[in-house]
Amino acid sequence: MPVLAMPQRSADSPPISIRRGTPADAAALAEFAARTFQESFGVMNDPVEVAAYLRHAYGPAQQEAELRDPDHVTLLAERDGELAGYAQLRRFPTPPCVTGPHAVELRRFYVDAPFHGRGLAQQLMAEAVSTARGMGFATLWLAVWEHNPRGIAFYRNSGFTDVGWQPFLLGAEVQTDRVMARAIQE
Ligand SMILES: CC(C)(COP(=O)(O)OP(=O)(O)OC[C@H]1O[C@@H](n2cnc3c(N)ncnc32)[C@H](O)[C@@H]1OP(=O)(O)O)[C@@H](O)C(=O)NCCC(=O)NCCS
Repeated sequence: MPVLAMPQRSADSPPISIRRGTPADAAALAEFAARTFQESFGVMNDPVEVAAYLRHAYGPAQQEAELRDPDHVTLLAERDGELAGYAQLRRFPTPPCVTGPHAVELRRFYVDAPFHGRGLAQQLMAEAVSTARGMGFATLWLAVWEHNPRGIAFYRNSGFTDVGWQPFLLGAEVQTDRVMARAIQE
């Protein structure tokens, strides 16, 4: 994986690097993933449902299982050994509204708040696209909460368009995700 320079970083701050996660990253990723989910969506949702989702989706055992699973590829963005963001691709049944050929899901995409608006999200997306392409896929699709305008704007700027909707279960609450997709062939 290339070592990427952060735009506008000060001369003495270390660069961002992006690499594939391994099972040894499970504990750090579980903490980071739960924290960034909570920070992103906690205040807008019922704390009981958020807590249920966090228990189900994140924890060292869950992240270790995903990091070991050949159907998941997790990319970790780090600065000075500390996580700054992560993206996860998943081979998963494609919803009918995704009509592009040979599609893979961009299942998770999170950048830590201090790095928002600084170019890391674009660098991580470029790496996710290039990784998916390298795996032989031609279409990237994702689901994003309908009440996540920043995420939707970022994905639109990254070349994704709306193709449909699907339900998302937050604990016991059924929410609505937009489904977006883009071609990734060169
Ligand atoms: C989504 C995420 C990866 C985007 O990274 P980022 O560094 O914040 O993205 P950028 O700042 O480059 O781009 C965000 C865009 O949203 C726009 N935006 C910000 N807040 C907005 C709002 N409330 N409504 C609409 N657009 C908004 C910005 O203006 C920018 O668009 P522009 O570049 O055309 O001006 C990052 O915000 C993140 O990790 N958020 C929390 C987790 C998350 O939502 N992940 C997606 C889950 S599906």
